Amino acid sequence: MAMASLKASSVATLLLFAVLISLRGLEAQTPPVAPGLSYTFYQTTCPQLQTIIRQQLQTVFNSDIGQAAGLLRLHFHDCFVQGCDGSVLLDGSASGPSEKSAIPNLTLRAQAFVIIENLRRLVHNACNRTVSCADITALAARDAVVLSGGPNYNIPLGRRDGLNFATTNVTLANLPPPFANTTTLLNSLALKGFNPTDVVALSGGHTIGIAHCTSFESRLFPSRDPTMDQTFFNNLRTTCPALNTTNTTFMDIRSPNVFDNRYYVDLMNRQGLFTSDQDLYTDSRTRGIVTNFAINQTLFFQNFVNAMIKMSQLSVLTGTQGEIRANCSRRNGNDLFILPGMEKNDDEKVASY
Ligand code: HEM
Ligand SMILES: *[C@@H]1O[C@H](CO)[C@@H](O)[C@H](O)[C@H]1NC(C)=O
Ligand SMILES: *[C@@H]1O[C@H](CO)[C@@H](O)[C@H](O)[C@H]1NC(C)=O
Ligand SMILES: *[C@@H]1O[C@H](CO)[C@@H](O)[C@H](O)[C@H]1NC(C)=O
Ligand SMILES: *[C@@H]1O[C@H](CO)[C@@H](O)[C@H](O)[C@H]1NC(C)=O
Ligand SMILES: *[C@@H]1O[C@H](CO)[C@@H](O)[C@H](O)[C@H]1NC(C)=O
Ligand SMILES: *[C@@H]1O[C@H](CO)[C@@H](O)[C@H](O)[C@H]1NC(C)=O
Ligand SMILES: *[C@@H]1O[C@H](CO)[C@@H](O)[C@H](O)[C@H]1NC(C)=O
Ligand SMILES: *[C@@H]1O[C@H](CO)[C@@H](O)[C@H](O)[C@H]1NC(C)=O
Repeated sequence: MAMASLKASSVATLLLFAVLISLRGLEAQTPPVAPGLSYTFYQTTCPQLQTIIRQQLQTVFNSDIGQAAGLLRLHFHDCFVQGCDGSVLLDGSASGPSEKSAIPNLTLRAQAFVIIENLRRLVHNACNRTVSCADITALAARDAVVLSGGPNYNIPLGRRDGLNFATTNVTLANLPPPFANTTTLLNSLALKGFNPTDVVALSGGHTIGIAHCTSFESRLFPSRDPTMDQTFFNNLRTTCPALNTTNTTFMDIRSPNVFDNRYYVDLMNRQGLFTSDQDLYTDSRTRGIVTNFAINQTLFFQNFVNAMIKMSQLSVLTGTQGEIRANCSRRNGNDLFILPGMEKNDDEKVASY
């Protein structure tokens, strides 16, 4: 009798612990601030910074909300390759604006680079060259989320701009491909300090934006990936009637331009666009997280914010490292690099590459 009730109560205790542990697993913990960054970094040097960016992006998105997705993805690519150092913006970067041979699945929107450079000009006109292109990119990504209907949040600032762009090989090695499964994604993102909840939350970035057929056509040809919903497949086959077209489609069919949790509802209906999306619902390690985010948008927002703050601080340059670029697409001139025959331009800068 005593034994039986002891057993019953230990089972109850175990269950309680299991529930508490599983809740704690999804509880949002604001990540630590990287040394050298701070939430008040520009308080004296550029107090108008965040207002300038927010207002300008509101204007940009009023005429084309699709640009929000381009800016969010730009920051992701910046941070995953060599850290959030603005290297993605440099001419010569494998994902950069001038890369002619950029493979389709790496294509960032050309307009995103123009928007960042316009922001830089506005900010530097107001505050001189005190704010880095890396910080402007991070703030633009945050505002892309906010102005699309997502959560508002602060990010630590004080990033410096890197001096070198990443090669194609380094870029490819750091960005998981859309055909990756959950095992590959979890392993790849664990190397950068992300846990499975972070991985599922970050993938929720796909609640806005578009993809080219070439990014997911291996799920359509030669035949339907069986994990894909039949009607969803039929519609995609209309958009992508053959291999290698240049057509695009929305990533979240339920609310393509709104930052919400519908992406996870898509996954539960087998309407995720990439294998890397859909497999999060197939894999038992991440399926429950997907379900929780689909049920509870507040929970998704909290975890997304935390994962984004983490992502925005990957391998940042601070203090006197790197520089603050006068032109986001190009490294500042350095007299040490001036070789005979090289001309200084109006800005007293030389192209470094
Ligand atoms: C986890 C691994 C990820 C993979 C495999 C992946 C892959 C891709 C691919 C292939 C595209 C479509 C490119 C095209 O065809 O034009 C895309 C678009 C996009 N991705 Fe990701 N991505 C990942 C993570 C992220 C993260 C962490 C974010 C941001 C938090 C993000 C935000 C976006 C956005 C907003 C778009 C739409 C861009 C646009 O409309 O221009 N992605 N992603
Ligand atoms: C920007 O720099 C110029 C020239 O050095 C200076 O006169 C001006 O006060 C500075 N502006 C701000 C906002 O710091
Ligand atoms: C880039 O990767 C390819 C294939 O993995 C390899 O053949 C090539 O040598 C690499 N290039 C550089 C510069 O590392
Ligand atoms: C992009 O597509 C190319 C060619 O289809 C493929 O070789 C490469 O692995 C893909 N890379 C990524 C990151 O998706
Ligand atoms: C995931 O992809 C990797 C690399 O392609 C492969 O080796 C592995 O077997 C896949 N895992 C599952 C569970 O499909
Ligand atoms: C997609 O591309 C094909 C061929 O490139 C074209 O015929 C077709 O009309 C396009 N479909 C859509 C929905 O844009
Ligand atoms: C795909 O189409 C592009 C032009 O849109 C072409 O340059 C490329 O060679 C094609 N690739 C294949 C594998 O057919
Ligand atoms: C949704 O998640 C939030 C944040 O973790 C939590 O406070 C709230 O209780 C959850 N709502 C429901 C209905 O479970
Ligand atoms: C920035 O640099 C690029 C070349 O990398 C150049 O085309 C562009 O005109 C420059 N912008 C400004 C404002 O100097």
